[in-house]
Amino acid sequence: MIRTLWVLQKPTITMDRKNLNEQESYESRRGFLKKSSLLTAIAVAPAAVGKAAEYNLGEKISEAFETTPVNMTVNGVKKQLAIEPRSTLLDVLREQLDLTGTKKGCDYGQCGACTVHVNGQRVLSCLSLAVMQEGKQITTIEGLAKGDELHPMQQAFIKHDGFQCGYCTPGQIMSAVACINEGHAESKEDIREFMSGNICRCGAYPNIVKAIQEVKNGQKS
Ligand code: FES
Ligand code: FES
Repeated sequence: MIRTLWVLQKPTITMDRKNLNEQESYESRRGFLKKSSLLTAIAVAPAAVGKAAEYNLGEKISEAFETTPVNMTVNGVKKQLAIEPRSTLLDVLREQLDLTGTKKGCDYGQCGACTVHVNGQRVLSCLSLAVMQEGKQITTIEGLAKGDELHPMQQAFIKHDGFQCGYCTPGQIMSAVACINEGHAESKEDIREFMSGNICRCGAYPNIVKAIQEVKNGQKS
């Protein structure tokens, strides 16, 4: 009797699953098409963007760009963030976390102004997607000092005038710390080679090299 019931019910269960799968698939197709249509309408009719407030489009646009939950530790503090999948780590640090010490220079991986540490390695945050940083340890220039005590590299940059306008300096310092940790600060030539991804338009290079050499040699005074 039980076997008969099972046999009778089985096709029903299969049908229900099939309907459910079809329904889910339909819903996701429908959602995708809705978003695509909205974005296409905005792309082909820029004037519509100007009328966004009038037609309450802003809310619909933000709905279209879904966010992804990402957990990361920034300067020792755990953060739970909702991040647009296309956002770079640089933009999230500056615009969501207000950590504006990390600078946006070229935004194309050419200047090094956006250098931060990810799990202790130097990384160009303008080329790194924020959603890829799940569970990672991020250190920015704001996280180098211990309270009021500057990091030895920060002290050395001040002592040796390793900057003029200062725009490239956070990236230079983050790279310099990593350069020593990587074992790439054995000579002036070594330092110049492994700091070559950090551009300084003010030309403070000789003083930057001196600062790095001093920290490498443990001369902190
Ligand atoms: Fe990232 Fe220039 S801003 S390399
Ligand atoms: Fe001005 Fe380096 S100090 S760009």
